[in-house]
Parts: sequence; C-alpha cells; structure tokens
Amino acid sequence: MTEFRATITATESYFPSKIITNKDLEKTVDTSDEWIRTRTGITQRHQAKKGQAASHLAIEAIEKLLKKTKTAPEEIDLIIVGTISPDTFFPSTACRIIDAIGAKNAWGFDLSAACSGYIYALATADQFVRSGRYKKVIAVGVDVMSSILDPKDRNTCIIFGDGCGVTLIEPILKDTELGIIDHLCHVDGAGIDLLYMPAGGSLHPTTQETLDTGMHYLKQDGKTVFKHAVTEMARISEEILERNNISPSDIDVFIPHQANIRIIESAQKKLKLKDEQVIINIDQRANTTAGTIPTCLDMAQRDGRLEKGKMVLLTTFGAGFTAGAVLMRWSY
Ligand code: UT7
Repeated sequence: MTEFRATITATESYFPSKIITNKDLEKTVDTSDEWIRTRTGITQRHQAKKGQAASHLAIEAIEKLLKKTKTAPEEIDLIIVGTISPDTFFPSTACRIIDAIGAKNAWGFDLSAACSGYIYALATADQFVRSGRYKKVIAVGVDVMSSILDPKDRNTCIIFGDGCGVTLIEPILKDTELGIIDHLCHVDGAGIDLLYMPAGGSLHPTTQETLDTGMHYLKQDGKTVFKHAVTEMARISEEILERNNISPSDIDVFIPHQANIRIIESAQKKLKLKDEQVIINIDQRANTTAGTIPTCLDMAQRDGRLEKGKMVLLTTFGAGFTAGAVLMRWSY
C-alpha cells in the first residue's frame, strides 16, 4: 500500500487595507506608542471595514491561493476554518466560504481553538490527507478581532489585529521525507476564565444587561496569560522535538504564535535559537489570533526563508488554554 504524508503546497494571506498605528490609538485610549512598542513589539495593526467579516478575508486569500496554484474550486475536498470571530455562530464561516468560491465538492467546518485555531486545523487536515482519503484540503486561520474588542479597554484593544492566512494541504509520498512529520495538540482548562468572551453564548445569552456591562467583549488577564504562554510555548516545542529526536539547532524556521514579542524572545532563548531561525510579523500585523502562524508562513515563503527540505517548527498558545506544535519538512 502506498504511504502518504500530508504537506503544505501553497500559502496565501490577506489583510484589510485599513491600518491603525499606535499613534492612532493614543487618541482613543490612555496609552502611548512607546508603551505598546516596548511591552508588545507592535507598531501597527490592520482593521476590517464595517461589514467585512471573517469569511470575506478568507475568500480574498483563498481566491489568490486557487489562482496561484491553478486549482479549480471544484477540486477542493475540505475547508477547515480556525476562527473565534466567525461571521455568525451558524451557519459556519466554512459554509459561507464554500458557497462564495464555488467549491461544490467540498465540505467544511469552523474550529474554535483561539490562537491555536490554525494549528488545530492543520493537524486535522493532516489526518484527512495522510489517510489517502482527501487530496486537497484548505486550512484557514482567520480572525476579525476588531469585532470582539472593547475599543475603550487599553489592556486588550492595542494587542490585536485582523488578518487571514490560508494553506493548501496535499498528499506527498512518505519516502520523500518531506511534509508534516508530527503534531501535538494540548488543552489546559486553567485558562478558561483568563482569556475569554463571557457573553453571547448559551452560558450568558445576549441580554441588555450583558451589553450594558460589556460582557460581549474579549477579556484578558494579560499578566497571568503571559506567564503561562512563556512556559507552554517552550515546553510544547521541546516535547515535539524530543519525541522526534530533533535538536533545536536542526530547526531552520521557527514560527511561534505572535502574541507578544517578549513571549517570542523568551521561547527563542529557551530553545537557544538564532534570530535568523525565527519568523516575526507581530510588529506590522499585531496578534491576529488564528491568523498569526499561516500569515507568517506566507511571509516566510515569499521572502525565501522557506525552501524545499527546510525543517520547520510551528508553535502556538492561546485561550482555553490551547496549545500545539507542528513539525515538518518544507516540500517546495
Ligand atoms: O494570544 C493569546 C495569548 N495572549 C497572550 O499571550 C498575551 C499575554 N499578555 C501580554 O502580552 C501582556 O500581559 C500585555 C501586553 C497584555 C500587558 O503587558 P504587561 O507588561 O503584562 O502589562 P501589565 O498588565 O502588567 O500592566 C503594567 C502597567 C499597568 O500599570 P500599573 O498598574 O503598573 O500602574 C497597566 O495599567 O501598564 C499599564 N497598562 C498600560 N499602559 C499604557 C496596561 N495596558 C496599557 C496600555 N498603555 N495599553
């Protein structure tokens, strides 16, 4: 029997054109460009227009992906959308995307894992492709964080941005030693009330009171989440490397979730990685939640840092807490 691995064969991304700089935020909340740069590493973020939802960002990115790879929409088997800012609770963002791009033979679903949404989507795509059952799967990481942020809360509104990254996943023969080698996904419920959106679901359905008290906005205990993120990003990276007998120095490209430059630097230090091994877009894009890793992949692919045979480690951490890592050898 032929044995397959799954591999990423194309990347794309889309960011809304509107840019909000730190200076812009100085006009709306009590903050400063200096504080945001030094405490987070962010200089600007993109913001969706009114009415521009997660599916719209994803459709822009997927249409570019299909064009670039000369793929007909009918060839797509499955679309998995990592997001915590879906267009609507239901139908899923995946349904809207599939309809809009004319992917008549595809099915799909949304996957809620916050900042780990893309990694969970990629791990799921890997299973479907590796089994030999599906030939073309699209894993999406998209968030319109501006739709769930309190514009008056300086603890949260300065950190996040809107954006989308997409990847095409296809089978590759296992004996090429290219493609996805391993993935590791993890949940620790210690984070349930540390980074969350209290209302709007079945626990606290929307009422006038939930609106008046701002329970429909994202809340975060930043300091505590920071401590967990620093430990877990390094731990999960070490775990996946150790169980595959790979040393951090063998990693050519490390793409960590982009929550805070200080978290990235801490993971880099613990893993003893050089600057040139680490991909960063938080300065220009901020924390795009499920969008950070696939947009970094697209950036690294465009600027030539991802080449055939390179060893790549993706590592994430987010609300839940969710965490995950994917290890792969780049195949094109
Ligand atoms: O992506 C999912 C996972 N999320 C994360 O990993 C995020 C983790 N957390 C963080 O990145 C950081 O905790 C933040 C960027 C959210 C906050 O940075 P911090 O260094 O942890 O700041 P802090 O919350 O400890 O606040 C320090 C001070 C406080 O003032 P006092 O009490 O020392 O007088 C805050 O009120 O900074 C103040 N502060 C601000 N000042 C100016 C908080 N936010 C701001 C702000 N501008 N935007």
